[in-house]
Amino acid sequence: MKLFDVYPLFDVNIVKGQGCKVWDDKGQEYLDLYGGHAVISIGHSHPHYIKKVEEQLHKIAFYSNSVVNKLQVELAERLGKISGYEDYQLFLINSGAEANENALKLASFKNPSCTRILACEHSFHGRTSLAVEVTHNPKIVSPLNDNHHVRFLPMNDIEPWVRELSRGGVAAVILEPIQGVGGIRMATPDFAQKLAYACKRFGVTLICDEIQCGYGRSGKFFAHQWLGIKPDIITVAKGIANGFPMGGVLISPEFEPVYGQLGTTFGGNHLACAAALAVLDVFEEENIVENAREVGDYLMERIRGIGSSHITDVRGRGLMIGIELDMPHKMVRKPLIKHEHCFTGCAGQNILRLLPPLCLTKTEADDFIERLIRVQPEED
Ligand SMILES: Cc1ncc(COP(=O)(O)O)c(C=O)c1O
Repeated sequence: MKLFDVYPLFDVNIVKGQGCKVWDDKGQEYLDLYGGHAVISIGHSHPHYIKKVEEQLHKIAFYSNSVVNKLQVELAERLGKISGYEDYQLFLINSGAEANENALKLASFKNPSCTRILACEHSFHGRTSLAVEVTHNPKIVSPLNDNHHVRFLPMNDIEPWVRELSRGGVAAVILEPIQGVGGIRMATPDFAQKLAYACKRFGVTLICDEIQCGYGRSGKFFAHQWLGIKPDIITVAKGIANGFPMGGVLISPEFEPVYGQLGTTFGGNHLACAAALAVLDVFEEENIVENAREVGDYLMERIRGIGSSHITDVRGRGLMIGIELDMPHKMVRKPLIKHEHCFTGCAGQNILRLLPPLCLTKTEADDFIERLIRVQPEED
């Protein structure tokens, strides 16, 4: 059997990681400003993470959601405290798409007669049925997913949102406070606050997708905390367990849990919870969120300071940064990997997207700047 070939791959076989560095099978070291697509929060192969996951493996890796799992309870309590959402409820699954899928289902269960959803232009929310339907990319929506529930509206332009909400029939509004795939586009506080107010007024569930921009990446625990809003539902994944597959739905106390309404086989298993708890230990011990803010500010300043005419904009918060170029991103991203041994992400046609581990140091940020200055753009 061969692999189903859906990923355009870089020909690099990564076999080892440590902090913000990874190594290929030939021993070549790379600086990781990509974090395996925003997944690595506390750094690759953190010793505390290894210890905790290993200890758990020796006890039990998995048992079903039909019995008490104290690790889930501990995770909910600690996540509530660190994020400022102690009164919310946690439902655990295995990925970001599943988190959004369940969030949208909850909104629909709460308001059964409403079948409309409002989402942002340029949004990305995952690839499962409802998650992909609220994703603004027709190329990845199969005909079976295209059920006409969704209206896409421009971010930061409140009028069309209020108009659509007042037409009625809307179950949920879903918003990435900072769009990732959409190119590091940030919701403004004014827009977000007016949207949250309108959702309350019309009894519509507001979901913030914090799968990429959340879990410390923006320099606050959640990116919407920069905007002065409190969503009804928050979805998380990626950095929650530093690479162990896990997602979470944080649900306001206004939602009553109903036995059997949601469920999963693997979600919140013992090993995943041990990984997520180890991540929170390191967040507390090493002030990971503050580091993301401080090093993120520093890195953004340094990128702006390069003063290159090829850089047309630099935007973002914390360690979620977009560098807009006057050329296709692949002309820089590829030689950065090949010649400068540095991974970055990308968005749209011409945006380099930086999503490093949140433990990035200022020295590593300086090192990236040197590589970025040195790199010579190459035609494909
Ligand atoms: C904002 C956002 N939502 C949802 C997802 C989907 O997450 P997953 O790939 O874990 O299903 C992603 C993944 O990139 C994302 O960036």
